[in-house]
Amino acid sequence: MDIFESLDAIFQPKSIAVIGASNRAGKIGHSVITNLIDSKYEGPIYPINPKEEQILGLKAYASVSDVPGDIDAAVLIVPAKFALQVTKECGEKGVKGLIVIASGFSEMGKTDLEHEMVKLAHGYGMKVLGPNIVGVLSNSDKLNASFAPCLPLPGGAALVSQSGALLIAMDTSTYTRRVGFDKLISIGNMSDVDFGDCVSWLDADENTSAITLYIEGNRDGRKFMKAAQKATKPILALKSGISAHGAAAAASHTGSLAGAAKVYSAAFQQAGIVQATDLNNLFDRTLALTLQPPLRGDNLLIITNGGGVGVLATDAAERYGIPLTFAPKDVQAELKKHMPEFGSAKNPVDVTGMAGTDWYVESCGYAITHPWLDGLVVLYCETAVTDPMEIAKGVKQAIDQSGIKDKPVAISFVGGERSDAAIRWLVENGIPAYDAPDTAINAMAALREYAKIKENAAGATEYKTSGNREAALKIIEGARADGRDSLTEIEAKLVFAAYGMSVTKNILSTSEDDAVRLANEIGYPVVMKIVSPDILHKSDAGGVKVNVKDDAGVREAYQTILKNAKAYKADADVHGVVVQEMAPWGTEVILGSVNDPTFGPTMMFGLGGIFVEVLKDVTFRVTPVSPVQAKNMLTEINGAPILEGVRGEAPRDRKALADTIVKYSQMVYELADEISESDANPVLVYEDGKALKVADARIILKKK
Ligand code: ACO
Repeated sequence: MDIFESLDAIFQPKSIAVIGASNRAGKIGHSVITNLIDSKYEGPIYPINPKEEQILGLKAYASVSDVPGDIDAAVLIVPAKFALQVTKECGEKGVKGLIVIASGFSEMGKTDLEHEMVKLAHGYGMKVLGPNIVGVLSNSDKLNASFAPCLPLPGGAALVSQSGALLIAMDTSTYTRRVGFDKLISIGNMSDVDFGDCVSWLDADENTSAITLYIEGNRDGRKFMKAAQKATKPILALKSGISAHGAAAAASHTGSLAGAAKVYSAAFQQAGIVQATDLNNLFDRTLALTLQPPLRGDNLLIITNGGGVGVLATDAAERYGIPLTFAPKDVQAELKKHMPEFGSAKNPVDVTGMAGTDWYVESCGYAITHPWLDGLVVLYCETAVTDPMEIAKGVKQAIDQSGIKDKPVAISFVGGERSDAAIRWLVENGIPAYDAPDTAINAMAALREYAKIKENAAGATEYKTSGNREAALKIIEGARADGRDSLTEIEAKLVFAAYGMSVTKNILSTSEDDAVRLANEIGYPVVMKIVSPDILHKSDAGGVKVNVKDDAGVREAYQTILKNAKAYKADADVHGVVVQEMAPWGTEVILGSVNDPTFGPTMMFGLGGIFVEVLKDVTFRVTPVSPVQAKNMLTEINGAPILEGVRGEAPRDRKALADTIVKYSQMVYELADEISESDANPVLVYEDGKALKVADARIILKKK
């Protein structure tokens, strides 16, 4: 049995056994049987209980081995101490997948028991969903194999939630929020089935049109990213535990590690996942992503009958990164025909408070077909002269009659009960509609982010290294043979150079004459620094001389550096004095890498100096970084205009910088088994066409 077959059995079981089914109301084993019956599940239900003949009118069995027919999925609702025995019985019976609702595993320190259960299940070809979950709900399969109150409002989304309580809360609120879901999947401890598995399975599921994830922490970040990158459906994720305190709460809640917010955001971007910021945002965005196509350009047109909501929407558009521009002249001229003289045909298009249904219908019908327009937002304030339902139906008809299906539309009606009824009607008829203008813009922003993120993710899978891994490994092995777990600056730069990065020339001299020869070879002026594993803070020891201009200067610097080193630490193991090219000053940037517990080798880029130290103006990516992502990184930091050239300064060589980010990421990715942390600080970036130089480099090795 392959993994997909077992997942099919878990998510779409043709028959189901409930182990720990109970006649006693108030028990989870009672609730799951009730839910299966109430959801009109069409396959056979086998309640398992050694003491009962019947449970809720269904024949009960003492064990799965007594069940006459095949069993696709078994729901485990017995105390954790029986988990191994029951798993074995299921395996021997030929059950295909386990849904383990029971708690009492890794979330309370019983990790070994959890591992043993999964290992045992795998031995029989069964996958394990959970433990510590609410269960699985699916409208299209009439399946409520959970203790959540009811099936959710039907719709195209599928929710995968790490928190069981949140899933239960979201379940009933799908009705009040009018956001429909086909499936709700609780994954709890993720002992086996994880986010990556769910994304792959749901992407292939014909009843799912968008995938929504609530994530606290993820163990195999790379597997998750790969699954998301391959997916063809929109994926929306709400990551909790992004504050330091929240991360600690998430970790204790699920027993898993919550990664840093910036790293998760980077991974989401690279994997083509749209982010939600909170629960309301999650519902609003889910609605848009299930009902509408992506917003493929920035040309958003707002049609409104109220100036106030128009301005609020305009502000929101800027906040969400899709600032409005005026519609072209021909659009304005045509729209002017469908409004009173005092209306405005710019953007927002204000058809005014006296606008009737006709003006809305004519404006929308015309605008949606115009090639300039990428997406349409319709705003309405409830007036005495209009009927909200009539406007809703008119707008929907105009969109349908235009035949345009690849441009998204979002609507906001602000008013009372009549507006609320119109919103409900619009949603039921496939148009995301909200009760506030900025929420409609948020919907459009999600559709824009989805389009952009997919374009960017497209190039992310191509990987062509520019590195010489063997050469880099030789240098690392040399340091290890020396008993060191950090490289000297010279060694680190050699590793950087092996990956094609431009580093300042630096050669070790072991005598004064040698230093003079090397300085002439490199070209004046030069920098000279002490090389000693015992002196890490070279400047503090008087071990650095910059701007050394001639042979006499080299001799003097050589002697002074050695004398200072001796005075600083008499028994220091001095390798010599490095002679370095003195690179002209440029814009300082920093590259750095860490090993993230979830995503592995991950890199950071930002402006150097105060920008990184005080403002923490940096952006992250999981390595390797594609050329497209590297270019995006340059625009993401707040200090981006500095690289673009401010106050008459020439733009910096962003092409060379993006290229260096790609190469640095390859070094970090390919040497992930060796490098624990690294940085290039500063990297000096020159004017366009003049490239850059890595002026200082640091590599800390993993302890072996
Ligand atoms: N095979 C079949 N039935 C069995 C077996 C067995 N090996 N062993 C016991 N049973 C029966 C019991 O006799 C009992 O039936 P009864 O009511 O007729 O007496 C039934 O199975 C349940 O066993 P109990 O020992 O009564 O256990 P109880 O129902 O109290 O608790 C449970 C079991 C629910 C699995 C509990 O241990 C547990 O883990 N609770 C937490 C579950 C949870 O909250 N999960 C979601 C987390 S997400 C969130 O927080 C929302």
